[in-house]
Amino acid sequence: MQDDVSPVNRPREAARAVYNSMSRWYDMMAGSEAKYADMGLEMLTVQPGERVLEIGFGTGRSLIALARTVGESGSVRGVDISDGMLAVAQARVEKAGLSERVELTLDDAAALPYENAAFDAAFMAFTLELFDTLDIPLVLGECRRVLRQGGRMAVVSLSRQGGGRMVKVYEWAHRRWPAWIDCRPIYARQTLDAAGFAIANAARASMWGLPVEIVLGIKA
Ligand SMILES: C[S@@+](CC[C@H](N)C(=O)[O-])C[C@H]1O[C@@H](n2cnc3c(N)ncnc32)[C@H](O)[C@@H]1O
Repeated sequence: MQDDVSPVNRPREAARAVYNSMSRWYDMMAGSEAKYADMGLEMLTVQPGERVLEIGFGTGRSLIALARTVGESGSVRGVDISDGMLAVAQARVEKAGLSERVELTLDDAAALPYENAAFDAAFMAFTLELFDTLDIPLVLGECRRVLRQGGRMAVVSLSRQGGGRMVKVYEWAHRRWPAWIDCRPIYARQTLDAAGFAIANAARASMWGLPVEIVLGIKA
């Protein structure tokens, strides 16, 4: 089933350049994604005192919600490859007065700079589908490595599940403008399952007719 997922052929440097150029306008451009990211945060049910990682934090909208929920005794870490996104997110965290519990770095999701079992929970919204099919297991393997036993991973992703006309249109646009439409729908639940996560919850939604999956996996 994963065979029909479109490849992603652009190098990491190209992704960095695109997200750098979009960072100041990203919230305006991608505002409609926020409610699906919130569904993922709700599914992750972060608790006060937990150590949480966000991968591909973008402009930092979800980081703020995570940092408020973990409270003073918890901590939030985030990685992103775009320095433009890092600057926007950092400013947002500072403005919210949450700098003491949030630490953000410029790193690649495929090589996380953390020790094994360093986190209770991890969150990734509209980011897993940016990676080429062969890289996705590497990224999820890194997520598993840095989660403790029983740790939770919530993924929000454009989905190929159920297909439909909008999936075809999106995939066409992805092939036509691969630098700008750099992600494409994937099978999120199967992907997490194949990476060794036990699926604890899964929901589906629709964004402008495009399927979205929200999946919670447990490091069993
Ligand atoms: C589509 S945006 C989503 C941002 C945010 N999660 C949200 O929901 O608004 C994808 C983010 O992933 C980041 N990203 C892309 N490739 C990455 C990589 N290899 N490692 C870490 N982050 C990456 C981009 O810089 C961008 O901030």
